[in-house]
Parts: sequence; C-alpha cells; structure tokens
Amino acid sequence: MDHIQFALSTSQQPRTMFDDIRLIHQALPGLGVEDILLKPETGDLCLKSPVFINAMTGGGGIETERLNGLLARVAKETGMGMAVGSQMSALKNPIERNTYKIVRKENSEGILFANLGSEATVQQAKDAVEMIEANALQIHLNVVQELTMPEGDRDFKGAIDRIRRIAGDLEVPVIVKETGFGISRETAVQLAAADITAIDVSGFGGTNFAAIENERRSRKLGYFQEWGIPTAAAIVETKSVFDKTLLASGGIHSALDVLKAFILGADAVGLAGSFLKIAMEKGEKELISEIHSLYEDLTMMMTALGARNLSDLAFCPAIISGELFHYLTVRGLN
Ligand code: FNR
Repeated sequence: MDHIQFALSTSQQPRTMFDDIRLIHQALPGLGVEDILLKPETGDLCLKSPVFINAMTGGGGIETERLNGLLARVAKETGMGMAVGSQMSALKNPIERNTYKIVRKENSEGILFANLGSEATVQQAKDAVEMIEANALQIHLNVVQELTMPEGDRDFKGAIDRIRRIAGDLEVPVIVKETGFGISRETAVQLAAADITAIDVSGFGGTNFAAIENERRSRKLGYFQEWGIPTAAAIVETKSVFDKTLLASGGIHSALDVLKAFILGADAVGLAGSFLKIAMEKGEKELISEIHSLYEDLTMMMTALGARNLSDLAFCPAIISGELFHYLTVRGLN
C-alpha cells in the first residue's frame, strides 16, 4: 500500500523524451477511420489490444485483492492484457494467494501475465504461472529500487542465468521487464541471448521507484531519482539489438505517447501509474471510459498519419529533435 500511495503522491510531469518526437501529417492518407485496425502483432504473447495493464499490485491484503479485481474487470471489458504485481510474497505465504487468483476468476478468458523478480527459481516461476493460470510470465529487474530500499537486496549476481533457466523450462513465454529505469542496448544483448520471448523496456519518466523508496527512508539517495533511461531512448536502445517482441512502458499517459512508442518500434504498450491514478481517484467505470477514449484517439491519429494498422506506424516518418536526438546521436542509434 505504501507503493500505491507514494506512486500517486510522487507522480510528476512525464520525462520520457516523447516530447522530442514530431509526427509528419499526411494530407492524403488514403484511408478512413473504419479501416484502422488496433490489433497488435505480439507473436506468442497473443495480445489483442495495443495497450496492457502493467504490473502494480504486489503483496497480499484486502486492498490488493480489491484493486486486482477492479483491474481484471477493466481488462475484460476493454480486451486488454493484464499483469499482476510480484507474486513472491504469495508464494511464501499461501494465505495471500486469493488476492491474485481473483484476476483469473474475474477474467477467465483474458491474457494474464504472472510476475516475479529475477531472484526466482524455476519452481517458483512455475508456481506463479499456475497460481493465476497465466499466459506468460514477467520477470522484473529492479536494481535501483532494491538499492534505494534500506532492507533491499545488495547482490545482483546470477540473474541472467536464472532468467535463461526459467525461459528454457517454462511452458509459457517469458517477458523481462524493468520497473521504470529502462533497458539499455548492453542489457538487451544479454537478454537476447537468454532466449526470452519479449522485453518490456519500462523506462524513466513515469513512476519513479527511487522517489517512492526515498519517501520511506531518512537519508535520501537523491542521485537515483534522476537515474535511468527515458522510455523513448530505451525503446530505440533495445530495438537496435533485440528482434523479438518489444513492449514499451514507463510514463505513458496519452494516446499520443502510445502512438509515438509504436512509431519508435514498440509492439505493444504497458501503463501502470496512470491507470492506477484513474482507478484510485475516479473508479472502475471512468477507467473503462478513458481506455475507450484512448483507443478512439489512437484511431483518429492513425487515420491522419495514413497508418492502417499498428505495424504500419514503424514506417511513418517522424522528426526527432532536442535531447532525444542528442542521446541517440551520442549512442550511435540514429
Ligand atoms: C509497479 N511496478 C511493478 N512492476 C513489477 O514488475 N512488479 C511489481 O510488483 C510492481 N509493482 C508496482 C507497484 C506500483 C504501485 C506501481 C505504480 C508500479 C512497475 C510497473 O509495472 C512499471 O514498470 C513502472 O511503474 C513504469 O510504468 P508507469 O507506472 O510509469 O506507467
């Protein structure tokens, strides 16, 4: 609950670098609104909607169960995939399992992602998937969060070997995700060799776990609050070396952000913080209605760009300027 409260109170203006991307209008798009298809190409992940609800409800408790239930109903109503938060505490404490199982109860046919950290064993990965009959497993990387937590992990050795073992032994696809600090080209190269199905870059610019954890400690580690790879840059970093499914998240709030993530090469987009804010402050109905508006806005903008489907967006020209241009130039990514 601390995470949820502080995620809301520390949320700031997005700093994803998406503002440095300018779209090129097409006055002769050659299609109409009814021609637009919003079904993403995500291979084995089988997502049916361009946007999914990213992980945010770890740790049991009545409030987690309520939020998981609400998000699962929203996912069902809008056709979105949904990830649960870390299930590690439920694996260790069986009494918490119902707070997760509710997502499958509420959305029996939906695409659901299980979630664990990279400390997980193969058996824990299998148990987490079974707990919610998940369609895929997210393994999260959260070095900066752990380092900022006084009681957090200090040893990050062996993670890539455990990820490789889990990806080899699990029957469902494995997604590796960051938690708001982004995936670099160097990290993506290691992940590409680990035989996983997808990377979620989860970049800097939205929910900031250094800011959240700093709220819980007296000596603040301020340097970590400015740490991380902005989401727009993290997409390009990862795309340059990883040719499988690329998911984008981190500070994505609007249909325009979603569109720009697809233009940079994402195959689907995850939202956590901004959905959480709407769910907590306005409730289930409003969240459903905002998601329908987001789909509608996406359709409008794709029409004006002449992009019939989401994969066409990667071929739409765009102008990259400012800090993002500088970043990509220095990294040799343009
Ligand atoms: C998260 N996130 C997260 N990720 C994960 O893999 N396992 C988890 O248990 C959690 N828990 C969690 C709790 C809360 C309250 C929030 C807001 C987020 C991280 C999340 O999935 C995502 O990677 C980041 O929040 C960045 O995306 P947004 O929030 O900027 O859209």
